[in-house]
Amino acid sequence: MKTFVIGISGVTNGGKTTLAKNLQKHLPNCCVISQDDFFKPESEIEIDENGFLQYDVLEALNMEKMMSTISSWIESPSHSPVSTDQGNAEEIPILIIEGFLLFNYKPLDTIWNRSYFLTIPYEECKKRRSTRVYKPPDPPGYFDGHVWPMYLKHRREMEDITSEIVYLDGTKSEEELFSQVSARNSIKMESTKSFLN
Ligand SMILES: Nc1ncnc2c1ncn2[C@@H]1O[C@H](COP(=O)(O)OP(=O)(O)O)[C@@H](O)[C@H]1O
Ligand SMILES: [Mg+2]
Repeated sequence: MKTFVIGISGVTNGGKTTLAKNLQKHLPNCCVISQDDFFKPESEIEIDENGFLQYDVLEALNMEKMMSTISSWIESPSHSPVSTDQGNAEEIPILIIEGFLLFNYKPLDTIWNRSYFLTIPYEECKKRRSTRVYKPPDPPGYFDGHVWPMYLKHRREMEDITSEIVYLDGTKSEEELFSQVSARNSIKMESTKSFLN
């Protein structure tokens, strides 16, 4: 069966999960897989010389498990219970994969039909991050000592590998971001078949 896979990556708190959920609401036959669901338990996370848990790296994630979840979906795409596109029985199953480290992970390289990357400036990112409560909570200095430097490192590496990434300005409104992605994919106007054109 034909499928269509959309990657939504970007900086922490850039709005990846929000955008993925907004798209899912409007897309028939669409599933979301979130990379955040595949973090290893805290006991398996490395600690650096400053005592910071090294969460923002690929090694902190059980990527094998995530890959097998993705493969299972591709083999047998699960359908969303409610179709928003009435009368079209030929909807192509869509998978949205959202997470902060997608395009740096080689085994996923060939899976993407569309790749998006949300960015927000340092100050905005730090502000949004400070309002969220993580498990375990960010210790003082964690953003500047781990989160942001890792983001910059991964972004540099990613830019060397992948070429077809569409960058999105995460300071735009949820509606604008939704329109930008859906317009590009003709989500609103036509059936999901047009994704393939
Ligand atoms: N377009 C947006 N404009 C302003 N704030 C946003 C936008 N999208 C998401 N947010 C807010 O930013 C925070 C992080 O959003 P989230 O989607 O969880 O980001 P991510 O999954 O990238 O970490 C949340 O508080 C969310 O409400
Ligand atoms: Mg998220």
